[in-house]
Amino acid sequence: MMSDTWKGKDIAAAQRLVVDGELAALKQSRALWMLFRALDVFAVDLVEAEYAKIIDIGCGCGHYGWALESLYFPRVHYWGVDFSEAMIDQARDLHPAGRFCCCDFYAIQDLWRYEIVMTSQCIEYLEEPLEGLSWLLAQADRVILHKIRLTSGPSKKVTEPTYCGETADVLLWNMDEILRLASQLHSVQIFPWPSRKIVTLALRRRD
Ligand SMILES: C[S@@+](CC[C@H](N)C(=O)[O-])C[C@H]1O[C@@H](n2cnc3c(N)ncnc32)[C@H](O)[C@@H]1O
Repeated sequence: MMSDTWKGKDIAAAQRLVVDGELAALKQSRALWMLFRALDVFAVDLVEAEYAKIIDIGCGCGHYGWALESLYFPRVHYWGVDFSEAMIDQARDLHPAGRFCCCDFYAIQDLWRYEIVMTSQCIEYLEEPLEGLSWLLAQADRVILHKIRLTSGPSKKVTEPTYCGETADVLLWNMDEILRLASQLHSVQIFPWPSRKIVTLALRRRD
């Protein structure tokens, strides 16, 4: 009988495998989950307006674009910018329908055209992260600073291995310093991550 089908050990074990896979994926994609949460709260008016243009500065492989357009299609339109041709090649491969541009982000002249400017783990790798952030904030009305890594002392650069084992300098932000800078022009909404050492910040220019 059909109802007995569900009572076997094998089917329970098989379902457990599926569920384990789903739970593992959920844990791994905390960055996506936090981004969706910030966007839901912060930009609900734009997303409901059915046409929000989002630009992702330092988009890497463009996975946020793939995820955002999958979840919010057709209400969100995504552009990714990265100065690495290899990253943009990967992004086009992952998200063939996406719009990507290979350039230094300082070369973007029209950030004001996008309803949301987001960036994740890019500004902190610049030689002058504070300068980069100030430049970004001066031009954009709504900004999502995603996956900001914090330190309890003053902001400081640390040297860390990259994906390939080479090293890169990355800035860990002091929360008060970044809030002081960000709140000069914008009101700031904080989305703490479970670890508390990472936050996503949503900034909206004050009228
Ligand atoms: C650590 S990766 C982060 C990628 C992706 N945003 C993420 O969160 O997974 C940093 C990315 O920023 C890009 N990047 C660094 N400086 C940049 C610049 N001045 N203009 C454009 N892209 C830049 C790098 O090429 C790299 O793809």
